[in-house]
Amino acid sequence: MIDIHCHILPGMDDGPETMEESLHMVRAFMADGISEVVATPHGPIYGERSIMPSDIQQACFDLQRSLLEAGLDFMIHPGQEILLDEHTPRLLQSDRLVTLAGSDYALVEAPLFCPLPDLNDILFELRLMGYRPILAHFERAVYAAEDLSLIRKLSEEEALFQINADSLLGLHGSVAKRLAWKMLEMGTVDFVSSDAHGLTNRKSHLHQVHALLKRKVGSELAERLVLVNPHKVLLNQPIEREDGMGEMGAKRRRRFWTK
Ligand SMILES: [Fe+2]
Repeated sequence: MIDIHCHILPGMDDGPETMEESLHMVRAFMADGISEVVATPHGPIYGERSIMPSDIQQACFDLQRSLLEAGLDFMIHPGQEILLDEHTPRLLQSDRLVTLAGSDYALVEAPLFCPLPDLNDILFELRLMGYRPILAHFERAVYAAEDLSLIRKLSEEEALFQINADSLLGLHGSVAKRLAWKMLEMGTVDFVSSDAHGLTNRKSHLHQVHALLKRKVGSELAERLVLVNPHKVLLNQPIEREDGMGEMGAKRRRRFWTK
């Protein structure tokens, strides 16, 4: 599996603090079936600190070198979880922010508690500029759960959606869990990622969730969410959204919702 959303770089944000902790995290990722990640520290500001693209590049380089020295066959790509606001398009254009693995895909985070009034306009502007924005864990946005038309509209406007494996397990609460599964039913999920921050309360559950998805939505879609689409991001290839749950057929869909 390929994880396009995780906090694995040491000393960058609320992920691991030291290189040793990062190496422990990588070992846990490998045991969880992940072979490659895009490291996505928060930005452009975390706490009081500005996170510069050169900081992220250097941290990826240092971690990759430590992995080689430790004999661990695991690939790290630079990325960022960009807190979305009206400045995002300008900052991206001026190379002040980091896209995923040097691609046109940008992982963007909308506020979780209060809707951004011009969210659609900002995403539209990003697409006009040639970027492909991926909304990070939008199932955790409380206002999105209250009005599904927002997700439908964003989806019609070609926004891509990443949801957290933990949401599908209920680890972000019942509202996020319900919305995550609902988004799968609506066919508006393009990626399932770990959003892991460490080895304890926010570790990767991708292996467990991949197995769950295979049972619930079928192997093909499960594979697409954790491997095929993330791989397309690394190759900077377009992602064609199929019908999500629609491909399962009515019989299977009924089975899904009766479980
Ligand atoms: Fe994150």
